[in-house]
Amino acid sequence: MAKDTCVLAYSGGLDTSAMIPYLRENYDLDVIAALVDVGRSRDLEALRDRAIQAGAVDAIIIDARREFVDDFVFPALRANALYEEKYPLVSALSRPLISKKMVELANERGSKYVAHGCTAKGNDQVRFDVSIRCLDPHLVILAPAREWNMTREELLDYMTARGIDIPLTKKNPYSIDENVWGRTIECGELEDPWEEPPADAYTVTAGIEEAPDQPQEVVVEFENGFPVALDGERLEGAQLIDRIDEVGGRHGFGRIDMIENRLVGIKSREIYEVPGALALINAHKELEDLNLTRDLNHYKRNIEQRLADMIYDGQWFSPLSDALRAFIQETQKYVTGEVRLRFFKGSCTVMGRRSPYSLYVKELATYSTGDTFSHESAKGFCNLWGLPLEVWARREKELS
Ligand code: ARG
Repeated sequence: MAKDTCVLAYSGGLDTSAMIPYLRENYDLDVIAALVDVGRSRDLEALRDRAIQAGAVDAIIIDARREFVDDFVFPALRANALYEEKYPLVSALSRPLISKKMVELANERGSKYVAHGCTAKGNDQVRFDVSIRCLDPHLVILAPAREWNMTREELLDYMTARGIDIPLTKKNPYSIDENVWGRTIECGELEDPWEEPPADAYTVTAGIEEAPDQPQEVVVEFENGFPVALDGERLEGAQLIDRIDEVGGRHGFGRIDMIENRLVGIKSREIYEVPGALALINAHKELEDLNLTRDLNHYKRNIEQRLADMIYDGQWFSPLSDALRAFIQETQKYVTGEVRLRFFKGSCTVMGRRSPYSLYVKELATYSTGDTFSHESAKGFCNLWGLPLEVWARREKELS
Protein backbone atom coordinates (compact mmCIF):
# COMPACT_ATOMS: atom_id res chain seq x y z
CA MET A 1 0.00 0.00 0.00
CA ALA A 2 1.24 3.46 -0.83
CA LYS A 3 2.42 5.47 2.14
CA ASP A 4 0.81 8.72 3.23
CA THR A 5 2.56 11.77 1.83
CA CYS A 6 3.95 14.90 3.42
CA VAL A 7 4.54 18.20 1.62
CA LEU A 8 7.91 19.55 2.71
CA ALA A 9 9.00 23.17 2.20
CA TYR A 10 12.33 22.30 0.61
CA SER A 11 15.23 24.75 0.41
CA GLY A 12 17.90 22.44 -0.97
CA GLY A 13 20.10 22.77 2.10
CA LEU A 14 21.38 20.02 4.35
CA ASP A 15 18.54 20.20 6.87
CA THR A 16 15.59 19.96 4.54
CA SER A 17 17.44 17.32 2.48
CA ALA A 18 17.97 15.15 5.56
CA MET A 19 14.29 15.54 6.39
CA ILE A 20 13.38 13.47 3.35
CA PRO A 21 14.77 10.16 4.71
CA TYR A 22 13.98 11.25 8.27
CA LEU A 23 10.26 11.64 7.58
CA ARG A 24 10.14 8.25 5.89
CA GLU A 25 11.99 6.48 8.72
CA ASN A 26 10.33 8.19 11.66
CA TYR A 27 6.84 8.99 10.38
CA ASP A 28 6.46 6.49 7.55
CA LEU A 29 5.77 9.31 5.10
CA ASP A 30 6.70 9.79 1.46
CA VAL A 31 7.92 13.32 0.86
CA ILE A 32 6.70 15.67 -1.84
CA ALA A 33 9.24 18.48 -1.92
CA ALA A 34 7.86 21.96 -2.59
CA LEU A 35 10.41 24.47 -3.89
CA VAL A 36 8.65 27.79 -3.57
CA ASP A 37 10.43 30.50 -5.54
CA VAL A 38 10.08 33.91 -3.91
CA GLY A 39 12.97 35.39 -5.85
CA ARG A 40 16.75 35.16 -5.85
CA SER A 41 16.70 31.36 -5.79
CA ARG A 42 19.54 29.83 -7.71
CA ASP A 43 19.22 26.85 -10.02
CA LEU A 44 15.94 25.40 -8.87
CA GLU A 45 16.17 22.53 -11.36
CA ALA A 46 19.34 21.32 -9.65
CA LEU A 47 17.66 21.58 -6.27
CA ARG A 48 14.71 19.60 -7.55
CA ASP A 49 17.08 16.81 -8.65
CA ARG A 50 18.68 16.94 -5.24
CA ALA A 51 15.34 16.37 -3.51
CA ILE A 52 14.69 13.34 -5.70
CA GLN A 53 18.18 12.05 -5.00
CA ALA A 54 17.49 12.36 -1.29
CA GLY A 55 14.43 10.16 -1.80
CA ALA A 56 11.49 12.51 -2.41
CA VAL A 57 8.69 10.86 -4.42
CA ASP A 58 8.11 14.13 -6.18
CA ALA A 59 9.59 17.63 -6.22
CA ILE A 60 7.66 20.62 -7.48
CA ILE A 61 8.96 24.08 -8.36
CA ILE A 62 6.36 26.74 -7.64
CA ASP A 63 7.05 30.16 -9.10
CA ALA A 64 5.50 32.53 -6.58
CA ARG A 65 7.59 35.59 -7.34
CA ARG A 66 4.83 37.69 -8.83
CA GLU A 67 2.35 36.82 -6.10
CA PHE A 68 4.99 37.54 -3.48
CA VAL A 69 5.61 41.04 -4.79
CA ASP A 70 1.97 41.91 -5.54
CA ASP A 71 0.25 40.43 -2.49
CA PHE A 72 2.88 40.59 0.24
CA VAL A 73 5.84 42.89 -0.50
CA PHE A 74 3.97 45.85 -1.98
CA PRO A 75 1.20 45.86 0.63
CA ALA A 76 4.00 45.95 3.23
CA LEU A 77 5.70 48.79 1.36
CA ARG A 78 2.44 50.77 1.31
CA ALA A 79 2.44 50.33 5.08
CA ASN A 80 6.13 51.40 5.25
CA ALA A 81 6.44 48.23 7.31
CA LEU A 82 9.61 48.08 9.40
CA TYR A 83 9.92 45.89 12.48
CA GLU A 84 11.45 47.81 15.36
CA GLU A 85 11.70 50.72 12.93
CA LYS A 86 14.52 49.01 11.05
CA TYR A 87 13.87 45.59 9.52
CA PRO A 88 11.74 45.46 6.35
CA LEU A 89 10.43 41.96 7.19
CA VAL A 90 12.15 40.07 4.39
CA SER A 91 11.68 36.53 5.80
CA ALA A 92 8.53 37.36 7.73
CA LEU A 93 6.72 38.28 4.51
CA SER A 94 7.67 35.15 2.61
CA ARG A 95 6.58 32.58 5.19
CA PRO A 96 2.82 33.10 4.87
CA LEU A 97 3.04 32.77 1.09
CA ILE A 98 5.24 29.65 1.26
CA SER A 99 2.70 28.24 3.73
CA LYS A 100 -0.12 29.02 1.32
CA LYS A 101 1.66 27.21 -1.50
CA MET A 102 2.37 24.20 0.74
CA VAL A 103 -1.25 23.98 1.83
CA GLU A 104 -2.48 24.23 -1.78
CA LEU A 105 -0.13 21.44 -2.84
CA ALA A 106 -1.07 19.27 0.14
CA ASN A 107 -4.77 19.67 -0.67
CA GLU A 108 -4.17 18.94 -4.34
CA ARG A 109 -2.22 15.77 -3.56
CA GLY A 110 -4.38 14.63 -0.67
CA SER A 111 -1.52 14.94 1.84
CA LYS A 112 -2.51 15.17 5.47
CA TYR A 113 0.97 16.25 6.56
CA VAL A 114 3.17 19.25 5.89
CA ALA A 115 6.71 19.84 7.13
CA HIS A 116 9.14 22.74 7.36
CA GLY A 117 12.82 23.03 8.18
CA CYS A 118 12.72 25.58 11.00
CA THR A 119 14.47 25.12 14.29
CA ALA A 120 12.94 25.83 17.69
CA LYS A 121 14.71 29.14 18.25
CA GLY A 122 13.52 31.29 15.39
CA ASN A 123 10.49 33.27 14.30
CA ASP A 124 10.01 31.37 11.07
CA GLN A 125 8.62 28.27 12.81
CA VAL A 126 5.91 30.47 14.33
CA ARG A 127 5.06 32.01 10.97
CA PHE A 128 4.80 28.60 9.28
CA ASP A 129 2.89 26.92 12.08
CA VAL A 130 0.38 29.74 12.55
CA SER A 131 -0.13 30.42 8.82
CA ILE A 132 -0.65 26.74 8.01
CA ARG A 133 -3.12 26.31 10.85
CA CYS A 134 -5.10 29.32 9.62
CA LEU A 135 -5.19 28.07 6.05
CA ASP A 136 -6.05 24.45 6.85
CA PRO A 137 -6.55 23.47 10.48
CA HIS A 138 -6.80 19.79 9.51
CA LEU A 139 -3.20 19.45 8.40
CA VAL A 140 -0.61 17.95 10.75
CA ILE A 141 2.55 20.08 10.90
CA LEU A 142 5.91 18.38 11.36
CA ALA A 143 9.15 20.19 12.12
CA PRO A 144 11.94 17.60 12.35
CA ALA A 145 14.65 20.19 13.08
CA ARG A 146 12.80 21.06 16.29
CA GLU A 147 13.17 17.50 17.54
CA TRP A 148 16.10 15.64 16.02
CA ASN A 149 18.98 17.25 17.92
CA MET A 150 21.56 16.59 15.22
CA THR A 151 24.53 18.85 14.53
CA ARG A 152 25.62 19.65 11.02
CA GLU A 153 28.30 16.96 11.17
CA GLU A 154 25.81 14.38 12.46
CA LEU A 155 23.42 15.29 9.67
CA LEU A 156 26.16 14.75 7.09
CA ASP A 157 26.92 11.34 8.65
CA TYR A 158 23.20 10.56 8.66
CA MET A 159 23.07 11.19 4.92
CA THR A 160 26.28 9.28 4.15
CA ALA A 161 25.06 6.27 6.16
CA ARG A 162 22.05 6.17 3.83
CA GLY A 163 24.15 6.41 0.71
CA ILE A 164 22.79 9.87 -0.10
CA ASP A 165 25.61 11.85 -1.55
CA ILE A 166 24.19 15.24 -2.38
CA PRO A 167 26.52 17.95 -3.60
CA LEU A 168 26.04 20.47 -0.82
CA THR A 169 27.33 23.92 -1.53
CA LYS A 170 30.44 24.92 0.38
CA LYS A 171 29.81 25.26 4.04
CA ASN A 172 28.58 28.81 4.57
CA PRO A 173 29.50 30.15 8.01
CA TYR A 174 26.19 32.04 8.10
CA SER A 175 22.51 31.24 7.98
CA ILE A 176 21.07 33.04 4.98
CA ASP A 177 17.54 33.68 3.80
CA GLU A 178 16.95 35.60 0.58
CA ASN A 179 14.09 36.74 -1.58
CA VAL A 180 13.04 39.63 -3.82
CA TRP A 181 12.77 42.00 -0.83
CA GLY A 182 16.30 41.41 0.46
CA ARG A 183 18.81 39.20 2.21
CA THR A 184 19.08 38.17 5.87
CA ILE A 185 22.29 36.97 7.50
CA GLU A 186 22.63 35.33 10.92
CA CYS A 187 24.97 33.11 12.99
CA GLY A 188 28.72 32.50 12.82
CA GLU A 189 30.88 35.44 13.85
CA LEU A 190 27.83 37.70 13.87
CA GLU A 191 26.81 36.21 17.20
CA ASP A 192 29.21 38.57 18.98
CA PRO A 193 27.32 41.89 18.90
CA TRP A 194 30.49 43.86 19.61
CA GLU A 195 32.34 42.54 16.58
CA GLU A 196 31.95 44.23 13.22
CA PRO A 197 30.37 41.89 10.65
CA PRO A 198 33.09 40.27 8.49
CA ALA A 199 33.16 41.60 4.92
CA ASP A 200 32.17 38.19 3.53
CA ALA A 201 28.76 38.44 5.21
CA TYR A 202 27.75 40.92 2.53
CA THR A 203 27.07 39.97 -1.08
CA VAL A 204 24.57 42.57 -2.27
CA THR A 205 25.99 45.82 -0.91
CA ALA A 206 29.44 47.34 -1.31
CA GLY A 207 31.34 48.75 1.65
CA ILE A 208 31.35 52.52 1.80
CA GLU A 209 35.08 52.50 0.98
CA GLU A 210 34.37 50.77 -2.33
CA ALA A 211 31.41 52.98 -3.24
CA PRO A 212 31.84 55.29 -6.26
CA ASP A 213 32.94 58.88 -5.68
CA GLN A 214 30.14 60.17 -7.88
CA PRO A 215 26.56 60.19 -6.58
CA GLN A 216 23.77 58.67 -8.67
CA GLU A 217 20.17 59.82 -8.88
CA VAL A 218 17.09 57.72 -9.55
CA VAL A 219 13.52 58.90 -9.97
CA VAL A 220 10.93 56.49 -8.56
CA GLU A 221 7.37 56.86 -9.74
CA PHE A 222 4.43 55.65 -7.64
CA GLU A 223 0.77 55.08 -8.50
CA ASN A 224 -1.62 54.64 -5.57
CA GLY A 225 1.33 53.71 -3.37
CA PHE A 226 2.73 51.12 -5.79
CA PRO A 227 6.13 51.78 -7.37
CA VAL A 228 5.65 51.51 -11.13
CA ALA A 229 8.60 53.12 -12.91
CA LEU A 230 12.25 54.09 -12.57
CA ASP A 231 13.61 57.07 -14.47
CA GLY A 232 10.50 57.03 -16.64
CA GLU A 233 10.78 53.34 -17.55
CA ARG A 234 7.83 51.21 -16.46
CA LEU A 235 8.97 48.03 -14.77
CA GLU A 236 7.45 44.96 -13.18
CA GLY A 237 7.65 44.95 -9.40
CA ALA A 238 10.44 42.42 -8.95
CA GLN A 239 12.52 44.02 -11.69
CA LEU A 240 12.09 47.47 -10.19
CA ILE A 241 13.23 46.26 -6.77
CA ASP A 242 16.22 44.49 -8.36
CA ARG A 243 17.29 47.67 -10.14
CA ILE A 244 17.25 49.76 -6.98
CA ASP A 245 19.00 46.96 -5.11
CA GLU A 246 21.72 47.11 -7.71
CA VAL A 247 22.16 50.90 -7.70
CA GLY A 248 21.79 51.29 -3.93
CA GLY A 249 24.01 48.27 -3.23
CA ARG A 250 26.76 49.61 -5.47
CA HIS A 251 26.72 52.89 -3.54
CA GLY A 252 27.04 51.08 -0.21
CA PHE A 253 23.46 51.74 0.86
CA GLY A 254 21.11 49.25 2.50
CA ARG A 255 23.01 47.47 5.26
CA ILE A 256 21.33 46.96 8.62
CA ASP A 257 23.10 45.69 11.72
CA MET A 258 20.65 45.39 14.59
CA ILE A 259 19.81 43.71 17.84
CA GLU A 260 16.36 42.33 17.27
CA ASN A 261 13.74 41.08 19.72
CA ARG A 262 12.55 37.73 18.44
CA LEU A 263 9.01 36.65 19.22
CA VAL A 264 10.35 33.57 21.03
CA GLY A 265 12.02 35.76 23.64
CA ILE A 266 15.59 35.87 22.41
CA LYS A 267 17.53 38.98 21.50
CA SER A 268 19.56 38.27 18.42
CA ARG A 269 22.08 40.10 16.27
CA GLU A 270 20.81 40.36 12.72
CA ILE A 271 22.38 41.63 9.53
CA TYR A 272 20.29 42.60 6.53
CA GLU A 273 21.07 43.75 3.03
CA VAL A 274 18.02 45.61 1.82
CA PRO A 275 18.89 48.59 -0.40
CA GLY A 276 15.78 48.30 -2.57
CA ALA A 277 13.38 47.87 0.35
CA LEU A 278 14.79 50.78 2.35
CA ALA A 279 15.04 53.13 -0.63
CA LEU A 280 11.45 52.39 -1.68
CA ILE A 281 10.07 52.83 1.82
CA ASN A 282 12.00 56.08 2.11
CA ALA A 283 10.59 57.36 -1.21
CA HIS A 284 7.07 56.13 -0.47
CA LYS A 285 6.98 57.88 2.91
CA GLU A 286 8.17 61.05 1.27
CA LEU A 287 5.26 61.03 -1.15
CA GLU A 288 2.86 60.44 1.72
CA ASP A 289 4.33 63.48 3.49
CA LEU A 290 3.48 65.51 0.41
CA ASN A 291 0.02 64.11 -0.30
CA LEU A 292 -1.62 62.95 2.93
CA THR A 293 -3.26 65.24 5.44
CA ARG A 294 -1.44 65.68 8.73
CA ASP A 295 -3.94 63.70 10.79
CA LEU A 296 -4.09 60.79 8.37
CA ASN A 297 -0.32 60.66 8.03
CA HIS A 298 0.19 60.68 11.80
CA TYR A 299 -2.55 58.14 12.48
CA LYS A 300 -1.24 55.83 9.77
CA ARG A 301 2.08 55.49 11.61
CA ASN A 302 0.35 53.65 14.47
CA ILE A 303 -1.38 51.31 12.06
CA GLU A 304 1.90 50.72 10.24
CA GLN A 305 3.66 49.69 13.41
CA ARG A 306 0.90 47.37 14.49
CA LEU A 307 0.84 45.76 11.06
CA ALA A 308 4.64 45.36 11.02
CA ASP A 309 4.44 43.63 14.42
CA MET A 310 1.70 41.33 13.18
CA ILE A 311 3.71 40.38 10.10
CA TYR A 312 6.76 39.72 12.25
CA ASP A 313 4.72 37.70 14.73
CA GLY A 314 3.29 35.33 12.11
CA GLN A 315 -0.18 36.83 11.94
CA TRP A 316 -0.42 37.77 8.28
CA PHE A 317 -3.56 35.67 7.98
CA SER A 318 -5.85 37.14 10.61
CA PRO A 319 -8.95 39.33 10.67
CA LEU A 320 -7.11 42.20 12.34
CA SER A 321 -4.33 42.04 9.81
CA ASP A 322 -6.90 42.12 6.97
CA ALA A 323 -8.65 45.10 8.53
CA LEU A 324 -5.39 47.02 8.98
CA ARG A 325 -4.45 46.36 5.37
CA ALA A 326 -7.86 47.63 4.28
CA PHE A 327 -7.14 50.84 6.19
CA ILE A 328 -3.77 51.17 4.47
CA GLN A 329 -5.38 50.54 1.08
CA GLU A 330 -7.80 53.41 1.70
CA THR A 331 -4.91 55.77 2.46
CA GLN A 332 -3.14 55.12 -0.84
CA LYS A 333 -5.69 56.70 -3.19
CA TYR A 334 -3.56 59.80 -3.77
CA VAL A 335 -0.08 58.36 -3.20
CA THR A 336 0.85 59.00 -6.81
CA GLY A 337 3.84 60.99 -7.98
CA GLU A 338 7.60 61.01 -8.26
CA VAL A 339 10.47 61.03 -5.80
CA ARG A 340 14.07 61.77 -6.71
CA LEU A 341 16.59 59.76 -4.71
CA ARG A 342 20.34 60.30 -4.56
CA PHE A 343 22.63 57.42 -3.62
CA PHE A 344 26.04 58.36 -2.39
CA LYS A 345 28.56 56.67 -0.09
CA GLY A 346 26.12 54.61 1.90
CA SER A 347 23.28 57.09 1.89
CA CYS A 348 19.97 57.41 0.07
CA THR A 349 18.65 60.94 0.28
CA VAL A 350 15.44 62.38 -1.07
CA MET A 351 16.38 65.29 -3.32
CA GLY A 352 12.94 66.16 -4.66
CA ARG A 353 9.29 65.13 -4.83
CA ARG A 354 6.30 66.12 -6.97
CA SER A 355 2.74 64.96 -7.53
CA PRO A 356 -0.47 65.96 -9.28
CA TYR A 357 -2.18 65.41 -5.88
CA SER A 358 0.27 67.38 -3.79
CA LEU A 359 -1.18 69.21 -0.77
CA TYR A 360 1.80 71.55 -0.76
CA VAL A 361 0.51 74.99 -1.74
CA LYS A 362 3.33 77.38 -2.47
CA GLU A 363 1.05 80.44 -2.03
CA LEU A 364 0.36 79.32 1.53
CA ALA A 365 3.93 78.35 2.36
CA THR A 366 5.86 81.18 0.79
CA TYR A 367 7.72 83.88 2.69
CA SER A 368 8.09 85.80 -0.56
CA THR A 369 5.61 87.65 -2.75
CA GLY A 370 2.33 85.99 -3.67
CA ASP A 371 1.48 84.96 -0.11
CA THR A 372 -2.23 84.14 0.33
CA PHE A 373 -2.09 82.87 3.94
CA SER A 374 -4.45 84.76 6.24
CA HIS A 375 -2.09 86.47 8.69
CA GLU A 376 -4.92 88.28 10.47
CA SER A 377 -6.59 84.93 11.37
CA ALA A 378 -3.45 83.72 13.10
CA LYS A 379 -3.85 85.86 16.21
CA GLY A 380 -7.37 84.59 16.94
CA PHE A 381 -6.29 81.03 16.22
CA CYS A 382 -3.48 81.26 18.76
CA ASN A 383 -5.83 82.80 21.33
CA LEU A 384 -8.30 79.94 21.22
CA TRP A 385 -5.71 77.18 20.77
CA GLY A 386 -3.89 78.30 23.89
CA LEU A 387 -7.04 79.13 25.88
CA PRO A 388 -7.41 75.91 27.92
CA LEU A 389 -3.75 75.96 28.84
CA GLU A 390 -3.96 79.59 29.85
CA VAL A 391 -6.93 78.83 32.13
CA TRP A 392 -4.94 75.99 33.68
CA ALA A 393 -1.84 78.16 34.12
CA ARG A 394 -3.84 80.91 35.89
CA ARG A 395 -5.20 78.42 38.42
CA GLU A 396 -1.70 76.98 39.02
CA LYS A 397 -0.48 80.50 39.77
CA GLU A 398 -3.33 81.10 42.23
CA LEU A 399 -2.63 77.87 44.08
CA SER A 400 1.10 78.42 44.42
N1 ARG B 1 15.33 37.62 12.05
C1 ARG B 1 14.66 37.67 10.81
C2 ARG B 1 13.21 37.33 10.97
O1 ARG B 1 12.84 36.81 11.97
C3 ARG B 1 15.36 36.82 9.77
C4 ARG B 1 15.07 35.37 9.80
C5 ARG B 1 15.88 34.60 8.80
N2 ARG B 1 15.42 33.27 8.66
C6 ARG B 1 16.19 32.21 8.42
N3 ARG B 1 15.63 31.06 8.38
N4 ARG B 1 17.50 32.33 8.24
O2 ARG B 1 12.41 37.58 10.12
